[in-house]
Amino acid sequence: MLIDSHAHLQDPDLLPDLEDVLRRAQDAGVEGIICVGYDLSSSQLAVKLAEEYPFIWAAVGVHPENLDSLAPDTYDRLAELAKRPRVVAWGEVGLDYVHGDPDRARQKEAFRRQLGIAQALNLPVIIHNREAHGDTLAILEEAGPRQQAGVMHCFSGSAEFARECLALGYYISFAGPVTFKNARRVREVAATIPAERLLCETDSPYLSPEPYRGQRNEPARVVEVATQLASLFGETLETFAPRLTANARRLFDLDRFLQD
Ligand code: NI
Repeated sequence: MLIDSHAHLQDPDLLPDLEDVLRRAQDAGVEGIICVGYDLSSSQLAVKLAEEYPFIWAAVGVHPENLDSLAPDTYDRLAELAKRPRVVAWGEVGLDYVHGDPDRARQKEAFRRQLGIAQALNLPVIIHNREAHGDTLAILEEAGPRQQAGVMHCFSGSAEFARECLALGYYISFAGPVTFKNARRVREVAATIPAERLLCETDSPYLSPEPYRGQRNEPARVVEVATQLASLFGETLETFAPRLTANARRLFDLDRFLQD
């Protein structure tokens, strides 16, 4: 049984097809899905899904590419939403220096602000970081170390950067790219992460793993990601999946909701 630690089920690419998507996930052995928000309305939808399905939990937050959507009361409304019982994390938040012409100062401000809210609410944070390793680490260091601080989602940094994040209390999560044929470096880095701090995710509907690369992604395919991680640790999916799942349960405190 696996937990997809990062999926956007509320995305317009997945939502119309949700019942089939969830059935395939359950058939594939996915026992839990963290549905991650990226602005206010996607966060509201994530919470709605989490309240509807017992194996879905929500994260709320504003993604660095969605800062134009911010209204004066957005953070207050998200903080209110985050108090609902099925919200288990704040995110995704962070820095993205890849797309368009990013306003770095504005992204850093939004990142700091949301890290502060998450800390005040004692929620782990789901961190998005693309081509912004130095600034991301500086802001995480400012916020200081914390138990179950959060997760570096779809990790793309170096082993050295991963060590710094681990020291601050973050878990390291890998998505479809760890399966890509040309991603030898990502696999080398993944193999250096302590197994008890590793998570798997799909980032659905994006980043479909091999052999589905380029297609719409969905949580059932977290199996391909977990299988790749297992092989990097010289294990089988059968022995490694429970370890990955235990990590997600610990980080998001899911044992509150789960019996066994
Ligand atoms: Ni995402």
